[in-house]
Amino acid sequence: MNDDLTNGSVSWESPSNIAIVKYWGKHGFQYPNNASISLTLSNAVTRTTINYRPKKEDGEVSIDFSFEGTNNAAFQVKIEKYLALLAKQYLPFITGFHLEIDSRNTFPHSSGIASSASSMSALALGLCDIEAMIAGIPYNTQQFLAKASTLARIGSGSASRSVYPHAAMWGKHPDIAGSSDEFAIGVEERLHPVFKSFHDDILIISADKKSVSSTAGHALMEDNPYSDSRYRQANDRTRQLYDILSGGDVDAFGKLAEDEALTLHALMMCSDPSYILMEEGSLSAIKAVRSFRAETKLPLYFTLDAGPNIHLLYPDEIKDSVAGFVDNELRSLCSDGTILKDHVGNGPKKTG
Ligand code: DP6
Repeated sequence: MNDDLTNGSVSWESPSNIAIVKYWGKHGFQYPNNASISLTLSNAVTRTTINYRPKKEDGEVSIDFSFEGTNNAAFQVKIEKYLALLAKQYLPFITGFHLEIDSRNTFPHSSGIASSASSMSALALGLCDIEAMIAGIPYNTQQFLAKASTLARIGSGSASRSVYPHAAMWGKHPDIAGSSDEFAIGVEERLHPVFKSFHDDILIISADKKSVSSTAGHALMEDNPYSDSRYRQANDRTRQLYDILSGGDVDAFGKLAEDEALTLHALMMCSDPSYILMEEGSLSAIKAVRSFRAETKLPLYFTLDAGPNIHLLYPDEIKDSVAGFVDNELRSLCSDGTILKDHVGNGPKKTG
């Protein structure tokens, strides 16, 4: 390490993402059992600032972690373990510094929205940035993002996809050049403009804590009787979606998105133990979306993560028709009428 190391600070803002082909099932050092593709969101972001200063004794991870401005012991322990892992293999600088990490979300913690993708990607980007500065590593943008994506993946698989603008894919796929289990790759270059205009209105059907953590959910795939065919299906759908994203077929996109969401929930229903992650309101919203589509012929589609909330996906050109429908028919299904309006975005930003 350099002798003239100084104190410093970096700030990064990184968004959440919504998977269209779902990552569900993992192995080894946080590697996916199938490829996945997501759209990068814009409004649901984590802002993370890391103040760093050299410390006398090199050896242990040393951090102060605050979440939403308050010290958070549970998160601190989680982040210490994560940093100890990174220090061994990826970021040796970590043990030579004391890090003060402050992390804040723009979306409510109790909204039932998973924050691991935005929070772990924001932290990973900040750490990579510090490494590049103090070790003087001349990363180009692609290398920097691949490293940040790798570090984010180790924190949370879906976070690997959040470092890219518009859309990303993660997981080695024989037909997709450059794809990897180690890190996600950006697919924005091949994206048809219609998908850059996509909205994601998140209907908060329930703001309760998830009934099964992602980690426990992934583990259930090990004994799921359908896991092998599921992984094959997900890789086939990844290939299909990869082509749809450049071709711009919104209806094919929407059909695939809905099939994937319902497959994820079906997998959880037939796991042992079995989980039903939808609420009555989720089903009512799905039925209402399907009726709206049948009546209006407008391309409004849905997806869900591993929980009851419904993500409404649609191109910007139908936003006025969707707004009326959402207010009249869907808002009453939401907890306290809460809907988080988001859209496809430009990816992370360095803010300081
Ligand atoms: C249903 O990335 O939260 O949202 O790697 O254990 O942190 P860990 O899991 P996580 O799983 C996300 C699952 C999903 C689908 C997806 O985002 O691809």
